[in-house]
Amino acid sequence: MLKQEEYKIGKTLISSKEIKKRVKEIAAEINKAYKGKELCALVLLKGSFIFAADLLRSFKVDSYIDFMKVESYGASMTSRKLVWHFKITDDVKGKHLLVIDDMCDSGKTLSNAVKYLKTLKPADIKVCVLLKKIRKRNKKNLVKLDYVGFKIPDTFVIGYGLDFAGKYRNLPFIAKMVKK
Ligand code: IMP
Ligand code: MG
Repeated sequence: MLKQEEYKIGKTLISSKEIKKRVKEIAAEINKAYKGKELCALVLLKGSFIFAADLLRSFKVDSYIDFMKVESYGASMTSRKLVWHFKITDDVKGKHLLVIDDMCDSGKTLSNAVKYLKTLKPADIKVCVLLKKIRKRNKKNLVKLDYVGFKIPDTFVIGYGLDFAGKYRNLPFIAKMVKK
Protein backbone atom coordinates (compact mmCIF):
# COMPACT_ATOMS: atom_id res chain seq x y z
CA MET A 1 0.00 0.00 0.00
CA LEU A 2 1.30 3.37 -1.00
CA LYS A 3 1.81 5.86 1.82
CA GLN A 4 1.01 9.43 0.81
CA GLU A 5 3.16 10.90 3.56
CA GLU A 6 6.27 9.29 2.05
CA TYR A 7 6.02 11.49 -1.05
CA LYS A 8 6.56 15.17 -1.75
CA ILE A 9 6.36 17.54 -4.70
CA GLY A 10 9.60 17.34 -6.68
CA LYS A 11 11.10 19.23 -9.58
CA THR A 12 8.82 21.28 -11.83
CA LEU A 13 8.70 19.61 -15.22
CA ILE A 14 6.56 22.16 -17.04
CA SER A 15 6.01 25.71 -15.81
CA SER A 16 2.71 27.56 -15.88
CA LYS A 17 4.11 29.86 -18.57
CA GLU A 18 5.12 26.95 -20.79
CA ILE A 19 1.70 25.33 -20.37
CA LYS A 20 -0.12 28.56 -21.31
CA LYS A 21 1.98 28.99 -24.44
CA ARG A 22 1.52 25.38 -25.57
CA VAL A 23 -2.24 25.37 -24.88
CA LYS A 24 -2.59 28.43 -27.15
CA GLU A 25 -0.60 26.66 -29.87
CA ILE A 26 -2.80 23.55 -29.71
CA ALA A 27 -5.95 25.70 -29.83
CA ALA A 28 -4.59 27.44 -32.93
CA GLU A 29 -4.02 24.04 -34.62
CA ILE A 30 -7.55 22.96 -33.72
CA ASN A 31 -9.06 26.25 -34.92
CA LYS A 32 -7.33 25.75 -38.26
CA ALA A 33 -8.27 22.06 -38.62
CA TYR A 34 -11.95 22.58 -37.76
CA LYS A 35 -12.50 25.87 -39.57
CA GLY A 36 -16.09 26.03 -40.80
CA LYS A 37 -17.07 22.91 -38.85
CA GLU A 38 -18.87 22.37 -35.57
CA LEU A 39 -16.90 20.61 -32.92
CA CYS A 40 -18.11 18.49 -30.02
CA ALA A 41 -15.53 18.49 -27.23
CA LEU A 42 -15.73 15.49 -24.90
CA VAL A 43 -13.87 16.20 -21.71
CA LEU A 44 -12.67 13.31 -19.53
CA LEU A 45 -13.15 14.09 -15.86
CA LYS A 46 -11.70 14.69 -13.47
CA GLY A 47 -8.11 15.11 -14.65
CA SER A 48 -8.64 17.24 -17.74
CA PHE A 49 -10.98 19.90 -16.35
CA ILE A 50 -8.32 22.61 -16.10
CA PHE A 51 -6.66 21.83 -19.44
CA ALA A 52 -10.03 21.70 -21.18
CA ALA A 53 -11.19 24.97 -19.61
CA ASP A 54 -8.07 26.79 -20.84
CA LEU A 55 -8.08 25.13 -24.27
CA LEU A 56 -11.76 25.72 -24.96
CA ARG A 57 -11.50 29.40 -24.12
CA SER A 58 -9.09 29.78 -27.03
CA PHE A 59 -11.42 28.05 -29.51
CA LYS A 60 -12.72 30.15 -32.35
CA VAL A 61 -14.70 27.27 -33.85
CA ASP A 62 -18.31 26.65 -32.85
CA SER A 63 -18.27 24.01 -30.17
CA TYR A 64 -20.43 21.92 -27.90
CA ILE A 65 -19.02 20.55 -24.66
CA ASP A 66 -19.91 17.34 -22.90
CA PHE A 67 -18.27 15.29 -20.17
CA MET A 68 -17.43 11.69 -19.43
CA LYS A 69 -16.13 10.59 -16.09
CA VAL A 70 -13.71 7.79 -15.38
CA GLU A 71 -12.59 6.94 -11.87
CA SER A 72 -9.47 5.02 -11.04
CA TYR A 73 -9.43 3.27 -7.72
CA GLY A 74 -6.90 3.53 -4.94
CA ALA A 75 -4.10 5.91 -4.02
CA SER A 76 -1.88 4.25 -6.55
CA MET A 77 0.70 5.39 -9.07
CA THR A 78 0.27 2.39 -11.37
CA SER A 79 -2.17 -0.36 -12.42
CA ARG A 80 -5.36 1.64 -11.96
CA LYS A 81 -8.68 -0.13 -12.21
CA LEU A 82 -11.00 1.99 -14.33
CA VAL A 83 -14.67 2.52 -13.58
CA TRP A 84 -16.57 4.39 -16.28
CA HIS A 85 -19.46 6.79 -15.96
CA PHE A 86 -20.46 7.38 -19.57
CA LYS A 87 -22.90 10.22 -19.21
CA ILE A 88 -22.98 11.79 -22.61
CA THR A 89 -26.22 13.67 -22.89
CA ASP A 90 -25.57 15.33 -26.25
CA ASP A 91 -26.49 13.40 -29.38
CA VAL A 92 -23.11 12.98 -31.07
CA LYS A 93 -24.28 11.09 -34.15
CA GLY A 94 -22.70 12.62 -37.23
CA LYS A 95 -20.69 15.10 -35.14
CA HIS A 96 -16.97 15.88 -35.18
CA LEU A 97 -15.74 14.68 -31.79
CA LEU A 98 -12.64 15.83 -30.00
CA VAL A 99 -11.79 13.80 -26.90
CA ILE A 100 -9.80 15.85 -24.40
CA ASP A 101 -7.74 14.20 -21.67
CA ASP A 102 -4.92 15.19 -19.36
CA MET A 103 -2.63 12.25 -19.96
CA CYS A 104 -1.93 9.23 -22.12
CA ASP A 105 -0.15 6.77 -19.86
CA SER A 106 -0.98 3.12 -20.62
CA GLY A 107 -3.54 4.31 -23.20
CA LYS A 108 -6.26 2.20 -21.58
CA THR A 109 -8.55 5.14 -20.78
CA LEU A 110 -8.37 6.76 -24.19
CA SER A 111 -8.58 3.54 -26.21
CA ASN A 112 -11.71 2.57 -24.24
CA ALA A 113 -13.23 6.03 -24.63
CA VAL A 114 -12.68 5.96 -28.41
CA LYS A 115 -14.08 2.42 -28.67
CA TYR A 116 -17.24 3.53 -26.84
CA LEU A 117 -17.64 6.76 -28.81
CA LYS A 118 -17.38 4.91 -32.13
CA THR A 119 -20.57 3.03 -31.22
CA LEU A 120 -22.40 6.38 -31.19
CA LYS A 121 -21.67 6.84 -34.92
CA PRO A 122 -19.99 10.26 -34.96
CA ALA A 123 -18.63 11.70 -38.23
CA ASP A 124 -15.09 11.42 -36.85
CA ILE A 125 -13.14 11.23 -33.60
CA LYS A 126 -9.87 12.99 -32.79
CA VAL A 127 -7.94 12.85 -29.53
CA CYS A 128 -6.18 15.69 -27.74
CA VAL A 129 -3.98 15.16 -24.67
CA LEU A 130 -1.88 17.56 -22.69
CA LEU A 131 0.72 14.95 -21.75
CA LYS A 132 1.98 11.75 -23.31
CA LYS A 133 4.30 9.51 -21.32
CA ILE A 134 7.20 8.05 -23.26
CA ARG A 135 6.77 4.34 -22.55
CA LYS A 136 5.80 1.03 -24.11
CA ARG A 137 2.09 0.42 -24.60
CA ASN A 138 0.20 -2.80 -24.88
CA LYS A 139 -1.09 -3.28 -28.45
CA LYS A 140 -4.70 -3.41 -27.30
CA ASN A 141 -4.36 0.05 -25.73
CA LEU A 142 -2.83 1.80 -28.73
CA VAL A 143 -4.71 4.94 -29.65
CA LYS A 144 -3.98 7.65 -32.20
CA LEU A 145 -3.19 10.95 -30.49
CA ASP A 146 -3.95 13.80 -32.89
CA TYR A 147 -2.88 16.67 -30.60
CA VAL A 148 -0.21 16.27 -27.91
CA GLY A 149 0.89 19.07 -25.60
CA PHE A 150 4.09 17.63 -24.19
CA LYS A 151 5.88 14.29 -24.21
CA ILE A 152 7.20 13.51 -20.74
CA PRO A 153 9.37 10.74 -19.24
CA ASP A 154 7.66 7.74 -17.67
CA THR A 155 7.37 9.30 -14.23
CA PHE A 156 4.47 10.21 -11.94
CA VAL A 157 3.45 13.88 -12.18
CA ILE A 158 0.92 16.16 -10.49
CA GLY A 159 -0.63 19.58 -11.06
CA TYR A 160 -2.74 21.33 -13.70
CA GLY A 161 -5.58 18.85 -13.11
CA LEU A 162 -3.46 15.79 -12.34
CA ASP A 163 -3.68 14.36 -8.86
CA PHE A 164 -1.92 12.14 -6.40
CA ALA A 165 -4.58 10.43 -4.26
CA GLY A 166 -6.95 13.31 -5.03
CA LYS A 167 -4.57 16.14 -4.17
CA TYR A 168 -2.59 18.78 -6.11
CA ARG A 169 -4.98 19.21 -9.05
CA ASN A 170 -5.07 22.98 -8.44
CA LEU A 171 -1.36 23.60 -8.95
CA PRO A 172 -0.75 25.80 -12.02
CA PHE A 173 2.42 23.89 -13.05
CA ILE A 174 3.32 20.23 -13.59
CA ALA A 175 5.82 18.66 -11.22
CA LYS A 176 7.22 15.25 -10.38
CA MET A 177 6.08 13.39 -7.29
CA VAL A 178 9.13 12.02 -5.51
CA LYS A 179 9.98 10.00 -2.37
CA LYS A 180 10.90 12.16 0.63
P1 IMP B 1 -4.05 5.54 -18.86
O1 IMP B 1 -3.06 4.62 -18.18
O2 IMP B 1 -3.51 6.05 -20.16
O3 IMP B 1 -5.38 4.89 -18.98
O4 IMP B 1 -4.22 6.81 -17.91
C1 IMP B 1 -5.27 6.86 -17.00
C2 IMP B 1 -5.34 8.12 -16.23
O5 IMP B 1 -4.46 7.99 -15.15
C3 IMP B 1 -4.95 9.43 -16.90
O6 IMP B 1 -6.00 10.02 -17.61
C4 IMP B 1 -4.62 10.27 -15.69
O7 IMP B 1 -5.77 10.87 -15.16
C5 IMP B 1 -4.07 9.23 -14.73
N1 IMP B 1 -2.60 9.31 -14.72
C6 IMP B 1 -1.73 8.64 -15.49
N2 IMP B 1 -0.47 9.01 -15.21
C7 IMP B 1 -0.57 9.93 -14.23
C8 IMP B 1 0.39 10.73 -13.51
O8 IMP B 1 1.61 10.69 -13.73
N3 IMP B 1 -0.13 11.57 -12.59
C9 IMP B 1 -1.44 11.69 -12.29
N4 IMP B 1 -2.37 10.99 -12.96
C10 IMP B 1 -1.94 10.12 -13.92
MG1 MG C 1 -7.62 11.20 -16.53
